[in-house]
Amino acid sequence: MSAAADPQIAAIVEAGGGHLPALLADVEQQLLVVADLQGEPLGEYARATISAGGKRLRPLLVALAAGPPPEERHDQLVRAAAAVELVHVATLVHDDVLDDASLRRGRPTVYAEAGREAAVQTGDALFASAFSQLLESEDEQQVAALATAGSALAEGELMQRSDAWDATISLDRYVARCELKTARLFEAACALGSLVRGEGASTLQPFARAIGLAFQMLDDVLDVEGPAERTGKHRGTDLLDGTGTLPRLIARDRDRQLADLDLREVDTPARAEALCELITDTGATEIAREVALGYVIEAKAAIPQDERAEALSLVADSVVVRYS
Ligand code: IPE
Ligand code: IPE
Ligand code: MG
Ligand code: MG
Repeated sequence: MSAAADPQIAAIVEAGGGHLPALLADVEQQLLVVADLQGEPLGEYARATISAGGKRLRPLLVALAAGPPPEERHDQLVRAAAAVELVHVATLVHDDVLDDASLRRGRPTVYAEAGREAAVQTGDALFASAFSQLLESEDEQQVAALATAGSALAEGELMQRSDAWDATISLDRYVARCELKTARLFEAACALGSLVRGEGASTLQPFARAIGLAFQMLDDVLDVEGPAERTGKHRGTDLLDGTGTLPRLIARDRDRQLADLDLREVDTPARAEALCELITDTGATEIAREVALGYVIEAKAAIPQDERAEALSLVADSVVVRYS
């Protein structure tokens, strides 16, 4: 579902202030300008992924963290928000190569449509263009915040691959992976907003970390629950590529048969679907939701009590009731 059509995001935008719709429209425009700058065929692939939508949660976080900017900082904020989304989109294009995924945002992935080389180069180009968005701010701290997140993302994605097919990974290691591959970009989004606002980069870090963790845990639940029409991604993709996620970790401890299962035997979408049912039957997705909810509560407790509080609190709530 696109951000514009998502009622939860609409409620957050409303709470965030009257300046937000125009600001977010400018971010959309900026993303398309960046895609067009890539030349062909990279521009075509970049546009396809960007215009397929997505929730645009990270640019929204940049904007909410900043609060209403003074006129002279409007462009800087638009670029900062676009930069974070570009790193996110770049990572998704690469992630679909790593995860051997064919569906993203309800459409075929660049990897499925144009192949590994095209996907690697598209992701690289988007990644590079993210950083060029920050040039005009002349703020080293913005560049540092995004670069740190980019490195963490790469580390987390590699950790996921090296843990693939291992049924024994611990909950701590799973959380560490979520922290690297997901929470750090949420932290960067808030850091960039805070920097544009003129406050310390880490003011919203505890909030951002907690919603990032909850967000990834919910994403892992949605992978098991599906269906693709709702999530825009095929059900069971994590199981098919050997990724041990929270629902699987919980199910492993509740069902002996699942604990002994070698994920390599789950080698067709139909088998992955059947395993998703078995995992759900153990109650693991419900427990995983509870764990995610615990992080949402932690996030809400960390929100500074200023004019941003209502919208940030709605963001935290939206993380665990989303469907895509
Ligand atoms: C997907 O992020 C990758 C994860 C961190 C789980 P989103 O669920 O925010 O993807 P889009 O941007 O809405 O497509
Ligand atoms: C999140 O992991 C991807 C990144 C944070 C890079 P997933 O592999 O779970 O994301 P989806 O499910 O493909 O969107
Ligand atoms: Mg993936
Ligand atoms: Mg996923």
